Amino acid sequence: MSNYETILIERRESVAVLTINRPDKLNALSSKVHVEGVQILDELRNDKEVRVIVIKGAGEKAFVAGADISEFAEATPVEQRDVMNSRSLFTVLDTFPKPIIAMVNGFCLGGGNELAMACDIRIASEKSRFGQPEINLGIICGGGGTQRLTRLIGESKAMEMILTGDMIDAQTAFNYGLVNYVYSSEELEAKTMELANKIAEKSPVALQMSKEAVKFASRSNMDEGLRREIDLFAICFSTEDKQEGVSAFLEKRKPVFKGK
Ligand code: COA
Repeated sequence: MSNYETILIERRESVAVLTINRPDKLNALSSKVHVEGVQILDELRNDKEVRVIVIKGAGEKAFVAGADISEFAEATPVEQRDVMNSRSLFTVLDTFPKPIIAMVNGFCLGGGNELAMACDIRIASEKSRFGQPEINLGIICGGGGTQRLTRLIGESKAMEMILTGDMIDAQTAFNYGLVNYVYSSEELEAKTMELANKIAEKSPVALQMSKEAVKFASRSNMDEGLRREIDLFAICFSTEDKQEGVSAFLEKRKPVFKGK
């Protein structure tokens, strides 16, 4: 794969671990991180060897402490709109055909929390802190925060977080349903990789269809969602993976899925 300045890529068998690598700026999302993130995901999209992606932040302090505020100083509305629209890392993550796990190891703020929410599963260390502090800068969320946070944790709690800009701790994030698990810093990586490896063994086609169907649930009404689910379910019947999964069950063996 190509080399990137702001994101490190490491392959661990069928899991690709992406590390946002600006620790001296608490991994703030510069426009370069957005551009490189989208390029990396475009490379990984077609890479059959990679079945699951884990995203983390470099260093001990932060996952991502938000958009790079220094870039806001000079940005015009039109430029800012273009960054969010045409190079939106959030949208690429959200619609990516493979599962993505955010491994949150510290501050997860603003665009960082929006990035984590655009992923499919969030796992946090005990010391993590979550928030949407945009209000303190006189602006609002622009990477999906008002929409995804509200859908994940409900309007009352999302409203409070967004209107106050206050941070919540990892246990509160777990209680709210914002994160799936909370582990000690020592356990975080091993537990995250355990989950990533478990998912990586499933059929890549079925994973893609599952992700699309689940994401559709909060974007449609029940009848449309049920119809979409049936279509995606039916597509699975055209795959070798479905033959393999059913045969393996009947033959009492472990399936080996190829993503075909
Ligand atoms: N954009 C740009 N730089 C950022 C940043 C961001 N979102 N968050 C942190 N940094 C930089 C700091 O400016 C500092 O750089 P410097 O050493 O060159 O001065 C460095 O990262 C370390 O941050 P610092 O503020 O010194 O760490 P801290 O432990 O005192 O505070 C935070 C940590 C997260 C509370 C604080 O950095 C913060 O509030 N960051 C902004 C969060 C935010 O508003 N995000 C939403 C943006 S829309």
